[in-house]
Amino acid sequence: MKQKISRVYLNGDYVDANEAKVSAFDRGFIFGDGVYEVIPVYGGRPFRLPQHLSRLKASLAAIMIANPLTDAQWTGIIDELVQDAGKTDQAIYLQVTRGAAPRDHAFPADTEPTVFAYSKPMTYPGPAEIENGVGAITTADIRWRRCDIKAIALLANVVLRQQAIAQGKAEAILVHDGHITEGAASNIFIVKDNVIYTAAKSEQILPGITRDLVVELAQQNDIDCREMSITEQQLRDADEVWLTSSMKEILPIVEIDGIRVGNGKRGPMHQRVFELLQAYKDDFRAGTVD
Ligand SMILES: Cc1ncc(COP(=O)(O)O)c(C=O)c1O
Repeated sequence: MKQKISRVYLNGDYVDANEAKVSAFDRGFIFGDGVYEVIPVYGGRPFRLPQHLSRLKASLAAIMIANPLTDAQWTGIIDELVQDAGKTDQAIYLQVTRGAAPRDHAFPADTEPTVFAYSKPMTYPGPAEIENGVGAITTADIRWRRCDIKAIALLANVVLRQQAIAQGKAEAILVHDGHITEGAASNIFIVKDNVIYTAAKSEQILPGITRDLVVELAQQNDIDCREMSITEQQLRDADEVWLTSSMKEILPIVEIDGIRVGNGKRGPMHQRVFELLQAYKDDFRAGTVD
């Protein structure tokens, strides 16, 4: 596959994307044995970098891979990759796998992790998508029980998202024991009677960086925001439903399983919180917030 991305970081070197090579025995390839991060970069500044690095460390620790780099080294790689695209908005992808070893589920202690990183242009939802919202399906959460780990093994997420796409919808909202966990690649928020709700953190959801920022912004602006379990019924009775992620920011879901959410339009709370996020990003670009 020819890549549009020019340079990538691989195990200490910056190489042409088309020349980057890893062993076919890399455990990332064989077992999906690794973790990753996706970090937005606004105006040349990596957004919420300490939070992303801290989640990366938590993911690595959970699967018993020693963090191969210090925060300063991670930051150095990100800064180097960011230079290629300059001040344009971009997204950094970081991945650490357990490295190459003879195929065996149990892993040898001395395997050298494979570290891979690249930057790609940021692709935001367009204004029409934000204004009109998107559709979603609900489906059973068939994933494993450690969804708090940002694992590269995303087979269930891939299949679930594809089910939504095959039906012309943007996201699959996952249901476990009558409760909403998250989306196939996003966190889920609902709004009811001017109160925002999102699932409390647990091993069933990824602790989304965008999710946390939305909760923070709501709290700072005296908007009632509660982190608690959301039932499937509450989802269906909601005035507004949103998905959040670093790449999609906050996107209104206006239709679920063919039924309108609220009045089927982007709601006033979305408008408010979306504007708060854009203002925060503007301040971040200007260097007035971290
Ligand atoms: C399963 C899942 N949940 C939530 C998110 C949102 O996380 P973040 O806001 O850190 O991008 C993602 C992002 O890719 C995801 O894959």
